This record gives sequence, structure tokens and C-alpha cells, in this order.
Amino acid sequence: MRDEGLLMTNPLPEDEQEELTLRPRHMVDFIGQSELKERLAILIEAARQRGESVDHVLFSGPPGLGKTSLAGILAAEMGAHFQATSGPALERPGDLAAVITNLERGDVLFIDEIHRLPRQVEEVLYPAMEDFQLDIVVGKGPAARSIRLELPPFTLVGATTRVGRVAPPLRDRFGYVARLDYYNSADLARIVLRSAQILSVDITNDGADTVSYRSRGTPRIANRLLRRVRDFATVRSDGLVDEQTALKALEVFEVDDAGLDKVDRAILEAVIGKFGGGPVGLSTLAIAVGEEPETVEDAYEPYLLQEGFLQRTPRGRVATSRAYEHLGVEPPDPGGQAKLL
Ligand SMILES: Nc1ncnc2c1ncn2[C@@H]1O[C@H](COP(=O)(O)OP(=O)(O)OP(=O)(O)O)[C@@H](O)[C@H]1O
Ligand SMILES: [Mg+2]
Repeated sequence: MRDEGLLMTNPLPEDEQEELTLRPRHMVDFIGQSELKERLAILIEAARQRGESVDHVLFSGPPGLGKTSLAGILAAEMGAHFQATSGPALERPGDLAAVITNLERGDVLFIDEIHRLPRQVEEVLYPAMEDFQLDIVVGKGPAARSIRLELPPFTLVGATTRVGRVAPPLRDRFGYVARLDYYNSADLARIVLRSAQILSVDITNDGADTVSYRSRGTPRIANRLLRRVRDFATVRSDGLVDEQTALKALEVFEVDDAGLDKVDRAILEAVIGKFGGGPVGLSTLAIAVGEEPETVEDAYEPYLLQEGFLQRTPRGRVATSRAYEHLGVEPPDPGGQAKLL
């Protein structure tokens, strides 16, 4: 039995290490997303010219598209310290106060998964973002009193895989909300070539194209596939990653010609095989494939929707004709399908 999560959710420690090595540190190393980069560059340059900190920025988009990388790049470009935390780690207002009172002028505070900030922490964050003020309660019971601390100007960078779950008052306090989209294969091929160079992998342009076509528009997956293809090339051939070797390796690791992995296919197979093509609710579907609903919704579904394998209807998820075609299953009644949409 091969590990199901090998390509998506459970990278080996060596993989994690390499992912850090591959993380772009400066704007010039960050490939693609040109419009977003241009806007960020303007924000950064304007702040620099005014001698101010950059306005707060929120990055949203599916996992592995570069949100954390961009947050680090923003700090690096500003020559600022980078402090990272996450929504779930900030359980109480005091946790946020501890982080925020340590900030120095111009620092970048990165809050990953910001949609998971508890409400009462969010409320402390509002005046901190808006007026660089922190209201904290000291003492307990009748002796409790609220004191106000002045904070040095800092830049809050938030990241979220679900911008819809960020409370509107929080979202509105960001000066710029940047949405990252899936990458086209040309940009992904450049990312693969860059990573191959860093990891000293011998790869042809065709080999890089093959990997990029099957990376579901996602740099993290492109890098992960590159490493698996490299492993295969080392063990099963002469180490060179050309088109043939890449194709064989991807077959071994069960990534198909649409870039779908085992879990993607399990989702489509479940909708079609177990739920008659849908509509099926998210949690029912997640149970059927043995994943968390959040994982299905954040990590798998966006790509299946974008590529037209799946559709979301008010009554649940529905398999499209492309899904039937991809799995080689005859659609039951095309007329019936259309009615559901
Ligand atoms: N534009 C890019 N150019 C080059 N490499 C990239 C780019 N974007 C992402 N990567 C690579 O993909 C990896 C994952 O990116 P990153 O961790 O920034 O994604 P993320 O959006 O924060 O994901 P998550 O939502 O899971 O936190 C990085 O380590 C880096 O190697
Ligand atoms: Mg991240």
C-alpha cells in the first residue's frame, strides 16, 4: 500500500527541508503572478519612499500557491523583521498581545490561517491594525482595568485559504487584499527548472513541461512531483529527468495525465460511484474518501471545480461529463445531469 498523502498532505521531513530551500526569498525569485507582484512592488516602493511601513496585506488562495513566500518576500524587500504566527496559535487576547508588543517599528507580523482567529482576539487586533493601539485588560475581578498601549507602526500580513471566512471588519482593515490564482504551465515549468537547479537535478525542458502539466497549477505540488521524479530517475534510470522518465515516474506515483492524484480520483469516483453523480454534500463526500471536509474543500475541490470535473450546486457537489469521461464511466442520463444544474 502506498501512502495516500504522499503527494499532498504528508511530506517527509526531507521534503519539508527541501521546500524551505526552494522557497523564493526575493521578489525576483518569485515566478508568475505578475500583476500581483507589480501591485505589491508599488506598495513596497511607495512605503519605502515615504519612510513608512507597508499597509496591511491579506493573501488569499488555495494551498501551496505562495502566500507564505510572499509574506517573507515583503519583509525582505522592506528590510524588516519577519514574525510569524497563526490564527489557531493565538487562542486568547493575551497571546496576541505578547506577540504584538514585541514588534519593532516597521516589522512584518505574519498571521497564517487568519480566518481561524478567535473572535475576541480579532477584536484586539482591530485597533492595533487601525491606530497602532493595543487595549489590554490587566488584573482580575473588580481590580481589573484596561490600559492602552501605543504600538510602533507595523505591517500585518494575513494569509488564508478561505477569504470567505475572514470576518468582513477584519478584511476591510487590510489596505490590499491579494488573491493568488493557479499558475499556468509555462510559469510552473519555470518554477520546476528553478527548483531543479537548486536541487542539482538534471532535467530537460520536456521533462520540466511534463511535471508542470501535472502539478494542478500549484508550485508546491510541482516541487513535490519534481522530487519524486528525481527519486525515480536516480533509482530506475541514469538520473536525467527527460519526458519519458518523468512520465514513467508520475505513473508510478499515481498522478494521471490531468494531474489528478489518488485522492482527487477517489473524490470523483465517490461522487459518481456512490452518489449517482451527485448532488452530494461536502461532509458526506469527505467521509466517503476518508478526508476532513476542510481538506476536501480547501485542497482538492478548488482545482476540480476550476478544471470542470466537479460543480457546486445549492444541493451539493455534482460530477460533470468531464469527470465521467476522465474516469472512463458512461454518464447515466445526460438530460438528467443538465436538470440538476
Ligand atoms: N511564485 C513562486 N515561484 C517559485 N516558487 C514558488 C512560488 N510560489 C510557491 N513556490 C514554492 O511553493 C512552496 C509553497 O509555497 P508557500 O508555502 O508560500 O504556499 P502557501 O500559499 O503559503 O501555502 P499554504 O496555504 O499551504 O500555507 C514554496 O516553498 C516554494 O518552493
Ligand atoms: Mg503558507
